[in-house]
Amino acid sequence: MSSAKQNQFDKPRLNELFDDLNATLKDFIRKHQVTYEEFHRGLAFLTEVGEKGETPLLFDVFLESTIDVVNNRERGGTATAVEGPFYLKDMPEMKSPCVLPHRADEPGNVLIFSGTVRSTDGNLLAGAIVDYWQADAEGNYSHFNIPKEKAPFNLRARVKSDDKGRFEIQTWVPSSYEIPKGGPTGALVKALGRHAWRPAHLHALVQHPGCEDLMTQIFIQGDQWIDSDVVGAVKESLIAGLVKRDDSAEISKRGLKQPFYTLEFDFVLPRGMMKAA
Ligand code: BEZ
Ligand code: FE
Repeated sequence: MSSAKQNQFDKPRLNELFDDLNATLKDFIRKHQVTYEEFHRGLAFLTEVGEKGETPLLFDVFLESTIDVVNNRERGGTATAVEGPFYLKDMPEMKSPCVLPHRADEPGNVLIFSGTVRSTDGNLLAGAIVDYWQADAEGNYSHFNIPKEKAPFNLRARVKSDDKGRFEIQTWVPSSYEIPKGGPTGALVKALGRHAWRPAHLHALVQHPGCEDLMTQIFIQGDQWIDSDVVGAVKESLIAGLVKRDDSAEISKRGLKQPFYTLEFDFVLPRGMMKAA
């Protein structure tokens, strides 16, 4: 047997996916009678995407929401949402209740994000990990638009739920933001005549042994981009409202000087295979 033939039997999934992708692209070329000029323009675009390190951004903006839907169709519990390109491993570990790492002059309003973690069979999950990240009140992600040295792990942490499965995270209200516009992905969005905005959201990866991981986002009700997210990731059940707290006793009890906001959300994880610790 030739080695090419042998390889085909070793990797049937790769062959199935590649052959269909290749056939789909060839059909596309025939359907649209793609010119040499357009072919070279496409090559130059993809080369620039690679050179500028925007491959994850490009795929996340245009494809990840469909990957999310295809992979989570039969799932119970809280709806999933895309991870996006701004997650960091190894964020600092904190126990609930906690105040996220922040700058002395952190802009915007304080937000208390709280709720419970439970499984689809109704058990509250103590010791669940809520891997949490968000953009700040000016739409910037730490380590991406805010240099790491200036504000390490700003508004990020791995927060452990308490013995009743509750979590409470003090953070700052995020704002809507535009996906990076300085590179080829932003240039493509602009050339298409579309806006580059994502509605304000919080990210969470919630994990507990014995349950399936939950990768999701919570979207802030009333945001002007909620119906036209450039990434197409908003799901109705993931939209939650902020409540303004302006009672002076409540404000001073928390050691704050100004009104703050609260957001309640309960995460529900499908029961799954036991994972190694
Ligand atoms: C985000 O959630 O931050 C994001 C997701 C997909 C593409 C770009 C950004
Ligand atoms: Fe995001």
